[in-house]
Amino acid sequence: MRWSEPQRAMLREMGLRLWLPQAAAGPDIAVAGATGPGHAPADEPAGSNKSMSGAPPSAPSGLALAAETMDWPALQSAVEGCRACGLCENRRQTVFGLGHLRAQCMVVGEAPGEQEDASGEPFVGDSGQLLDRMLRALGLSRDATEPADAARQVFITNTVKCRPPRNRNPTGDELSACQPFLQRQVALVQPKVIIAMGAFAARSLLGSDEPIGKLRGRLHSWRGVPVVVTYHPAYLLRQPSDKARAWEDLCLAATCLAPRAD
Ligand code: URA
Repeated sequence: MRWSEPQRAMLREMGLRLWLPQAAAGPDIAVAGATGPGHAPADEPAGSNKSMSGAPPSAPSGLALAAETMDWPALQSAVEGCRACGLCENRRQTVFGLGHLRAQCMVVGEAPGEQEDASGEPFVGDSGQLLDRMLRALGLSRDATEPADAARQVFITNTVKCRPPRNRNPTGDELSACQPFLQRQVALVQPKVIIAMGAFAARSLLGSDEPIGKLRGRLHSWRGVPVVVTYHPAYLLRQPSDKARAWEDLCLAATCLAPRAD
């Protein structure tokens, strides 16, 4: 892969080094870590911010069945009116997700925080800014303004659509309650790849409680859609030495996308 100068600038900003073995002649073959050989990863604990609690999610069948046939407007209004778990009590608004509705790449985070609860948009805080820089380095963007481009514009959402009070972990029951909405979003977007950021996204999509360090670096599948698990941006802000691994994961996700002309 050859990186453009703006992409290189962003990779440098992320603390990633380009290896250019044949400077002008060959492609930029790798983005090596900010860390050197022998770096022992501080594995992201279960939950990018916190530890998990509750039983493994299993979707309640009533909502799951209803969601299965919803189109986008019906799904959005079902989310807005949802009272399936206690998170509805304290939310200012639901955070449905945004981006291209048929994006090739879908990003699934954890849960809205205070800023997302206030704005109604996912990933608007510091971790959102890091996410945007990472996406931009891949030539991707959350910006779904015209011209629509499913290859360049992503769809971003979370495992739960309401902010957990005081930014605590979503519980197993809350993940279960919201799972039909996430599943329907994936079914409507029909992405070529899902990037699951953090342990809760991995848990909701794959049903796995394994640490990110064990799940990352390979392709999983959700109903036939490739899933790449990687570190949550909030974790990467605290543990920048793992940015290189996250970048490897994003490059793996990019291999699932259709090749672009440029
Ligand atoms: N903001 C979100 O919308 N999701 C996260 O997982 C973190 C911050």
